[in-house]
Parts: sequence; structure tokens; C-alpha cells
Amino acid sequence: MNLDDAFRKLMKKGNLSASKQEVTENDKTTVAVDENTKVTTLEPTIEEEKEIKFPPIDFSQIVVEDKFTFNHVEERSQIAEEYRILRTRLQIINPSKNSVMFTSCRHGEGKSSTSMNLSLFLAKKKDQKILLVDLDLRRSRVGKLFNYKPKVDIVDVVRERAELEKTIVYSKKENLYIMPVRRDYSNATEVLESNNMKDIINRLHENFDFIIIDTCPCLSTADPTIVGKLIGGAIMVVRTRQTQRESLEHAILALREHNIPTLGLVLTFMKYFIPKYFYRYQYYHDTYYYYHYYAGKDSVDG
Ligand SMILES: Nc1ncnc2c1ncn2[C@@H]1O[C@H](COP(=O)(O)OP(=O)(O)O)[C@@H](O)[C@H]1O
Ligand SMILES: [Mg+2]
Repeated sequence: MNLDDAFRKLMKKGNLSASKQEVTENDKTTVAVDENTKVTTLEPTIEEEKEIKFPPIDFSQIVVEDKFTFNHVEERSQIAEEYRILRTRLQIINPSKNSVMFTSCRHGEGKSSTSMNLSLFLAKKKDQKILLVDLDLRRSRVGKLFNYKPKVDIVDVVRERAELEKTIVYSKKENLYIMPVRRDYSNATEVLESNNMKDIINRLHENFDFIIIDTCPCLSTADPTIVGKLIGGAIMVVRTRQTQRESLEHAILALREHNIPTLGLVLTFMKYFIPKYFYRYQYYHDTYYYYHYYAGKDSVDG
């Protein structure tokens, strides 16, 4: 029995993780496959497996599109300034992984708009590869915001019907990579929970400098708690004069129960600009930052 066959046999027996552990600690470990077979020095096989799991993204294969039409934030406006502050705060917070997700208590609080604009502002740094991923699979918005309809999306990759590269769209003009979703999916939870999704998110982490994820509200579905476990943390979008304090507490606790840190709060639909950009705010013994930004032109409050 050669090394590969022995390893396949181990995998079938469900012993892979145990054997991997031993190999990491001592690459000369002898692993007994059965009473007749013993295997030593498994390291080369482990290396191979690691590569197969998260292969690099072939950037020459991704879709390039410069016909996005969307509402730009005016460069010299106060709202642009607020996004620059949010960008800086994010660098200071320095999440444990190079990613954050935007969530909120309910729909219509500004998650997608904030995710989109922050991504655009992060992407202004030309040496950075910034990716915006739509994981609000129930009510996808990213494609609509950029006026772009993808042919394949991340769900097709999970189902092994598309290459990951073909679901990433790059705008040279904006220096931004986006992963829009082509339709709404009612079985979102099942898709997000899959092992393929975990691998995809890990692969994206390895290939991009920073990933912004647009998710759905955390009071109506479990989806953000599933996504949150795969990434660096959550930023909670709070709609001024609408989000209830109690709901906000529930939302943060729901994430915390799954060990997902809430890294900050973004206040949306601000009617008037308050010169103090953000306050430190004591909340369940943690410090969160409030970011304010103006209501956009099309807002109900604007
Ligand atoms: N900060 C804001 N000020 C004013 N209007 C906003 C703001 N953020 C979003 N909107 C508007 O609110 C609506 C819902 O925003 P969206 O980002 O899709 O919310 P969500 O993703 O939380 O459902 C959109 O019409 C959007 O233009
Ligand atoms: Mg949305």
C-alpha cells in the first residue's frame, strides 16, 4: 500500500484530523492504518491537501466590467468625509481577519448602501484589493446598486456549477471587486452553512486585502450568525429614530452568543449633521464607535 492509498484509507475511516494533528507535531510520526499497515512521514500529502483546499484565485479569469452606473458619493461632501472616517476607524479596530460584515436589526436600515460606499472608499487606495460580497442571499442588493446583473454567482460555486473567478466582477475605474448575486434564494441558510461556502470564504480571505460582506438582518434569520463565524466581525447598522434600543441589544447578544464580535455601530439616516463625528459608547462593557452620516438624497428623511 503506497502513501496516498494509506491516506485515503485514513480519510475514509474519519481519522484525518487526528492523523493531521500528529503530523504537525512531529512529521516523522508513524500512523497505524490497520494492523498490517503502518505509514510514516505523511508531510508531503498534507502539503498537497492544503493547496487543493484554497487554490489561488486566477485574477486573469475574473470578469472585468466598467459600465457600472450607480449613485456616487460626492467627493467633497460631508458624507464622503464620514466614509473616510469610517475607513480609518476600521483600520484602527483591525478585525481579527481581513473582513467585516454589515448587519442590522431589520431591513431598510442602510446595510447595503453602507457596505457599497465603504467598499468604494476602501478601494480608492490603489494598492489594495478590496472585495464586496453579497451574502444577503434572500434580498440581494449589490448587483442592483451597481446596475449589474451577473450570469453566475456564489451559490453556483457552492453547488459546483461555476468557477469562483467567473462570479467576481472587477471595475478598473473604481479598483473594486464585487460578487453580486443573480437572484434571491429562499434556502439561503442551507447554502451558507455548507462546507463549500466555508472554503470559498477562506479562499477569498487569502486572495484579497479586505472583504466587506453585506448580509441580512440578524433578528429575522440566523444567516448573519453563520456568516459571522467565518469572518472578522460585525458592524451593526442603526437607523436613527427607527432602530429600537431593545432590538439593538438583542441583535448584539445574538451575535455574541455565537462568539461574533460587534466591532462598531454605524448610524444611518441622520437628519442633521452633528459635528462630533463619533462618540465612545459604553455598551455591555465593550466600547463601540458610533459613526454618523447624512441621509442621502433619496432618503425618507432627507
Ligand atoms: N444613510 C442613509 N441615509 C438615507 N437613506 C439611506 C441611507 N442608507 C440607505 N438609505 C436608503 O434606504 C433604503 C434602504 O437601504 P439599504 O441599504 O438597501 O438597506 P438594507 O440593506 O439595510 O435593507 C435605500 O433606498 C437607500 O437609498
Ligand atoms: Mg440590503
